[in-house]
Amino acid sequence: MINVQESILQIENLHVQTKTPHGTTSLIQDVSFEVERGQIVGLIGESGCGKTVTSMSILHMLDRKTTDVTGNITLQGRELIGMGEREMRSIRGKDISYIMQNPMNSFTPVWTIGHQLIETIRRHTTVSKRQAKAKAMNALAQMNLPQPDKLLNMYPFELSGGMLQRVMIAMAACMHPPLLIADEPTTALDVHTQKLVLEHLNQIRHEYGTAILLITHDLGVIAEMADQVVVMRQGEIVEQAEVLELFENPKHDYTKKLLAARPSIPAVCPI
Ligand SMILES: Nc1ncnc2c1ncn2[C@@H]1O[C@H](COP(=O)(O)OP(=O)(O)O)[C@@H](O)[C@H]1O
Ligand SMILES: [Mg+2]
Repeated sequence: MINVQESILQIENLHVQTKTPHGTTSLIQDVSFEVERGQIVGLIGESGCGKTVTSMSILHMLDRKTTDVTGNITLQGRELIGMGEREMRSIRGKDISYIMQNPMNSFTPVWTIGHQLIETIRRHTTVSKRQAKAKAMNALAQMNLPQPDKLLNMYPFELSGGMLQRVMIAMAACMHPPLLIADEPTTALDVHTQKLVLEHLNQIRHEYGTAILLITHDLGVIAEMADQVVVMRQGEIVEQAEVLELFENPKHDYTKKLLAARPSIPAVCPI
């Protein structure tokens, strides 16, 4: 267990605006939160509240021509807002792994999974091609992906969304970055695989002290995984608290509503 408190990601007064032909719309207003080393921060809120836009702002993945991002985003003391594309490219994958909500977008369709995994590992480390391949195979096997050797020769379109997401988590495990952002990582998965993925994320943070920003609408996942929870609504944070505190004593009406809407666990489980 990691005890030293060390801030990995610090977001302060984040504002995101999008420019349309009809004027400017605000997507994110004054968002501030922090993720420490080895900590899992859950980001929750109903669909469309700005969770993905927040994570994409961190990684500079929003279209610069149409969106305006202001505030401070600090990764291990380095300011990301205003950082050049070249420097940002070296941060993506190495310092921040991003498990995208739509995993198909994070792979290049014309290259095999193996090519992309091995190239990513080699771009950020000094291992040989053979070592990178062994690393990739091992990581895929750990994610319960069948026949890793065959998988390496497959193209992204040949895999399901859930499989691609697991490939991305496997990649993150290889790189052990200081920060991992997982956007709805378990939504497309069956219960068994979901459990496995969550266990794996937990293992990554314990072994490497990876700070994890876990975006999900699944409050069961939050209860099981998160240390700290940030609740968003319409581009703003309405509440942030430690996980137990949030579940036991939600302060904001919106949080209360979210908690009330979750499916209840039957007191007696049918055998
Ligand atoms: N790339 C983008 N550019 C401009 N607006 C966007 C973009 N992505 C999402 N939006 C808009 O921003 C709002 C928040 O969306 P999003 O962050 O995807 O919500 P969530 O992930 O919480 O479901 C929505 O109104 C959505 O239409
Ligand atoms: Mg989203």
